[in-house]
Amino acid sequence: MEYRKFEDRASYEARQIAASASKFSYCKVSYRDAEKYARILARDRASRGDTSPIGPVLCLGVRNGREVDLLRIALHGPRLLQVMANMMERRWHGFASRRPFIERLNRSNCKRLDERACIGVEINPLAGRPDVWVGSFDNLPTEWTGAFGAVYSNSLDHAYAPYSVAAAWRAVLRPGGYLILGVPGEQRAAPIDPVGLLVFDDVLKLFPGELIYFRRRGSAWRYTEYIIRMR
Ligand SMILES: C[S@@+](CC[C@H](N)C(=O)[O-])C[C@H]1O[C@@H](n2cnc3c(N)ncnc32)[C@H](O)[C@@H]1O
Repeated sequence: MEYRKFEDRASYEARQIAASASKFSYCKVSYRDAEKYARILARDRASRGDTSPIGPVLCLGVRNGREVDLLRIALHGPRLLQVMANMMERRWHGFASRRPFIERLNRSNCKRLDERACIGVEINPLAGRPDVWVGSFDNLPTEWTGAFGAVYSNSLDHAYAPYSVAAAWRAVLRPGGYLILGVPGEQRAAPIDPVGLLVFDDVLKLFPGELIYFRRRGSAWRYTEYIIRMR
């Protein structure tokens, strides 16, 4: 792992917000990714005889928030909505829907963490909506400690300090909860992405647990994927 230290927190945050605003229409997550993660989690839980609800899901560093919608639909949406979300997707500025209103149906609310909630966190104020909390993913609300059944992120490379970010993400997971990561493995540390060259051993050191899925460049955006069940 390569890590580029910022001179101060304010310049880090300003840089992240400016970069996010300049690419606000981009989403690097495809419906196919969300569907795959939902399938893997369901299979793992079934193999362990776990029939309890997965619990609230938290997505971190979500920019325009599309992955929050995709995971909610893949995990809990009616079949018709799942088919529509898949069919209407096109590759444009990453991935987007030809009919975005479909993905907005039944959004959760950050203030009501029921077992089917799916919410996000983003530092860019442009992202604010009822199911996206505007703030930093290493300074999460204390009432979220141990609250989530799964955490998804493809933004670990944007961490200000990887060890404290990892600790904050682990802290919001329930025991036995899942961490789903998409990581741009070969990327060097840079001003916008201060954490670079995140390889297998780094990820498992940051998030010790049982690796239930790993695929190099497996996501639709070709990010390396990890799914870890926390102890
Ligand atoms: C690589 S983009 C990924 C966006 C989105 N997940 C996607 O797939 O398109 C990283 C996002 O993380 C956000 N971000 C960076 N640092 C953050 C922080 N400390 N807390 C919350 N969000 C942050 C950035 O503003 C940006 O929108």
